[in-house]
Amino acid sequence: MKLDARKARIFLDDVANIVKVDKHGMLKLIGALPDEMATLLDRPVPRLHGLEGHTNIVFSGMGGSGIVGDIIRSWLGPKAGIPFFVNRGYDIPPFVGHGTLFLAVSFSGNTAETLSSFDRAIAKHCTVVALSSGGKLEKRAKEEGVPFYRLEAPEGTAPRAALGHMLVPLAQVLEAAGLVKARSELEEAVAVLRYLRGRIGPNVPCKYNESKQAALAVLGFIPVIHSYGILEVAARRWKTQFNENAKVLAWADYLPEMDHNSLVGWNQDKAGKGHACVILRDAPSESDDPRMTERIEATKELAWSNSSNIIEVYSEGAGPLSRIISTIYKGDYASVYLAALRGVDPLPVQAIETLKSRLGKGHLPRKGNPHNG
Ligand code: F6R
Repeated sequence: MKLDARKARIFLDDVANIVKVDKHGMLKLIGALPDEMATLLDRPVPRLHGLEGHTNIVFSGMGGSGIVGDIIRSWLGPKAGIPFFVNRGYDIPPFVGHGTLFLAVSFSGNTAETLSSFDRAIAKHCTVVALSSGGKLEKRAKEEGVPFYRLEAPEGTAPRAALGHMLVPLAQVLEAAGLVKARSELEEAVAVLRYLRGRIGPNVPCKYNESKQAALAVLGFIPVIHSYGILEVAARRWKTQFNENAKVLAWADYLPEMDHNSLVGWNQDKAGKGHACVILRDAPSESDDPRMTERIEATKELAWSNSSNIIEVYSEGAGPLSRIISTIYKGDYASVYLAALRGVDPLPVQAIETLKSRLGKGHLPRKGNPHNG
């Protein structure tokens, strides 16, 4: 189905059209985020002992689980007062050792890279905490006798839709380790997300709905999401949600680094017209350092003016978590609206399943890694 701009607006303004495409209810899962967070906040905090006195934190996870590490690092990393590293892959960084608090997070519990990094962290005698909804990670954590936190989400929830289920317990683990205070910012984020849901949910027409407007702006183009500072993680999430929910190519790029490379491509490659730019902005950071505002304006002129569309999306709320997660929320909704416009069911990610199962069959020779899928 190919929609022109006017038809696309009419299509999105009828909720029934979106619901019809969203066969597995991704929109509902996204809508539930603040309520899930509120419920988890009311649960007793996990009792974990011996988590104090570390010199660094390493979070290991992939995809929809890995992004939670980026959120935690951007939000709580600076408050923890010790280095916070997000690890993606089979291996772990060489500095990992006795002083490391190692958080192994896989929503399914079966992701090969995370299982491998878990084994390597155990071998390096770190303090390891594992979080999953079950799977091999739960089994391995129990075999090793390390603290395990079970992520409770409704059956069939996709990892990327279980953001709240991972974010709240992880923040609580860091609180239990005496590293940060997280509760009040989590409460603020719940309020901001609830308010936002009333503005970007499916019943709000395109005219007033920032997420529907974002989906319309990128429809038919390759979205390139730009951000900086604490919102870098939000650009990554917009990209991955466009990839997985709307099944489109999408890229993320970061300021000021992109002004030292991508700028030239944007400036001189006619292929820019095949792209739409999304700029994620954080007013508090820009008022702290107005050089970023100046840079964005200059980059618009020299680079993004050669794309087919530019939209700007602002963070909301006061604390860093609210600002990060409000920007993420706008993208999560936008990705489902884009999926609806493209007529694709947001939930299934067949290609990821195919790849995992192909690698799980273990055709390739590899040394020392028992976890293939
Ligand atoms: C699926 C998704 C993927 C997974 C990734 C890792 O919704 O978002 O990116 O998160 O393949 O799987 P888990 O999270 O189970 O370790």
